[in-house]
Amino acid sequence: MSFSNHTTESVRERADIEEVVGDYVQLKKKGQNLWACCPFHNEKSPSFSVSPSKQIYKCFGCGKAGDAIQFIMDIEGIGFAESIRHLAQKYGIEIEEEKSQTPEQIQALTEKERQYVVLNYAKEHFSLNLDTEEGRSIGLSYFRERGFNRQIIDKFDLGYSIESWDHLLKAAKTAGFTTTELLKAGLILERENQSGNYYDRFRGRVMFTVHNVGGKAIAFGARTLKKDKNQPKYINSPETEVYHKSDTLYGIFQAKQAIKSKDNCYLVEGYTDVLSLHMAGIENVVASSGTSLTESQIKLIKRFTDHVTVLYDGDAAGIKASLRGIDMLLEGGLHVKAVVFPEGEDPDSYAQKVGAEAFTTYLNSEAQDFIKFKIGLSLSEDKSDPIKKAETVRQIVQSISKISDPILQNFYVKEASLLMELEEDLILMELNKALLKSKERDTSSRQVPPTQFPEDLLAVEPMDTKQSGQRQLMSQEREVLRLLINYGVEKIGEELHVCEYLIEETSELQFETPVFKNLFESYREALRRGILPTPEYFLNTTNSELKKELIDMITQKYELSSLWESRHQIFTVKEADNLAKTIYDSVLRLKKRVLKKMLNELLDKIKAAQDGEIADLQQVYMEIKRYQVEIDRQLGTVISH
Ligand code: UTP
Ligand code: MN
Repeated sequence: MSFSNHTTESVRERADIEEVVGDYVQLKKKGQNLWACCPFHNEKSPSFSVSPSKQIYKCFGCGKAGDAIQFIMDIEGIGFAESIRHLAQKYGIEIEEEKSQTPEQIQALTEKERQYVVLNYAKEHFSLNLDTEEGRSIGLSYFRERGFNRQIIDKFDLGYSIESWDHLLKAAKTAGFTTTELLKAGLILERENQSGNYYDRFRGRVMFTVHNVGGKAIAFGARTLKKDKNQPKYINSPETEVYHKSDTLYGIFQAKQAIKSKDNCYLVEGYTDVLSLHMAGIENVVASSGTSLTESQIKLIKRFTDHVTVLYDGDAAGIKASLRGIDMLLEGGLHVKAVVFPEGEDPDSYAQKVGAEAFTTYLNSEAQDFIKFKIGLSLSEDKSDPIKKAETVRQIVQSISKISDPILQNFYVKEASLLMELEEDLILMELNKALLKSKERDTSSRQVPPTQFPEDLLAVEPMDTKQSGQRQLMSQEREVLRLLINYGVEKIGEELHVCEYLIEETSELQFETPVFKNLFESYREALRRGILPTPEYFLNTTNSELKKELIDMITQKYELSSLWESRHQIFTVKEADNLAKTIYDSVLRLKKRVLKKMLNELLDKIKAAQDGEIADLQQVYMEIKRYQVEIDRQLGTVISH
């Protein structure tokens, strides 16, 4: 290892799990522990927990667990030593190394770790360049002109690349890096038709360092200072092993604390917009870097807040182009607002023009709910044209249909009806159409056009699903009870027993099958009397049906164990070792079955309903449907690995 045990020990002492994890997700206190949606797998309700008293994290969904050092290893995809280095830097702990890393030590790192080291080297190289004569007179003076002071330059690791074919290449090689490493990091290029002949990718440009959430340099954006129209304005790093443009947001490292504390994230387009907002004292800002938002960028924001305010340049074309982004944000479950700047201004120019105070006031007073914003945009074009208006309604409803939270969705329906002076029912009808359409698209490319609710849905559901649905519900009830009986007294958390979790999670459901309902009640009764019931506890029963079920449940465990252990050794390991996940999934499956049954019953009601009642029932149906889709999604992502 390249540094002393003393460093490792200091890191262990200082690193606080809550602070370390808090750099990557927003933790909420619930009981003894802190909870968040897991950063390692896809989920909507939190199953990722952090225990400050034990200084560990654990996800009940995907099973990832460990201490602060392990967390950094997992989330950054780096090894132990690099994780120590990372934490030492965070806590300002001096790294006691045998001088700097020797070439041998660098060789011993994994490829990904080496990429981080070489990119960090390049970052420092570019910022040191600002102190050269060329850097001062060209790079630094440009930044000054744009109003960026030393503080912001340091905070964002701004730099300069010397106007030369190999200034970085030479320096990096002297420092012990290989051309292969530099090439893989996207810092140099091979000359066409001259293999083995390399040159710097970034030359004579001001450099913007792109950091990952943890603060590591992962890429660069290089802005030209020349007027030459043949030169691209920016040259950016290519995709590399550590840089995936679509997963990255410029400024997220510098913004994340402020995003958490303000519970809002400003979204802008360019590097310079981010910098200018910071200069104006607004730190909760990230840039999409000129491209439209991706799903993983939205998830990244969602780690820290549920609120986004999109800042638009004051040109209509730009706004139109980025409207799709709003739908994606809504789909991602975010609450969206928008601010438009005066014609010809972008956030950067406007902040520089009016100053910090006026700028902040502007943001606060101009921020509009997305729906007002969108309606305003469309209606401003032509208020009187009924065809235009119908199109506007369609588009607004399209956006509203992306919202997964039913309460929020309902709120927007009301708002839209007010703003557009339309009956709420009319909007609801449009909404149902939109939902059906997206359902069609999701399930398959079925040819039947969705005309009227609920006939299409009836056609989709074969009649015999009802019986099989009932059977599935029963067997899922059995499965949950089997887990309760066999593992009820085991712990899946510091202070959480399986039985507590299962009872809590199923409290809103009624077990349908009488024998299971009965068993569940006796279990609860036992707990109430202070007994943690083992399987044997129940076997005393005189109810023969119950006894038979119980024996099935208990022996099933052992039979499966011995059978599978001898053959594959897989199943039992999974069930017992990954108990939390098994339990968690089984509850989701049970909920899924219950919802399915509710949906079937609702369909029957809708068929028999009077005209006046249909709209309400449809609304309920849609809400349940969304809940079910959500559970499917969780199961889909949780199960598969
Ligand atoms: P802008 O043209 O608005 O650039 O593009 P800017 O960063 O605001 O720069 P100034 O203020 O004109 O100096 C917005 C973003 O689009 C990406 C960059 O990430 C830029 O910040 N972009 C733009 C490129 O990647 N390549 C380009 O050639 C242009
Ligand atoms: Mn700009």
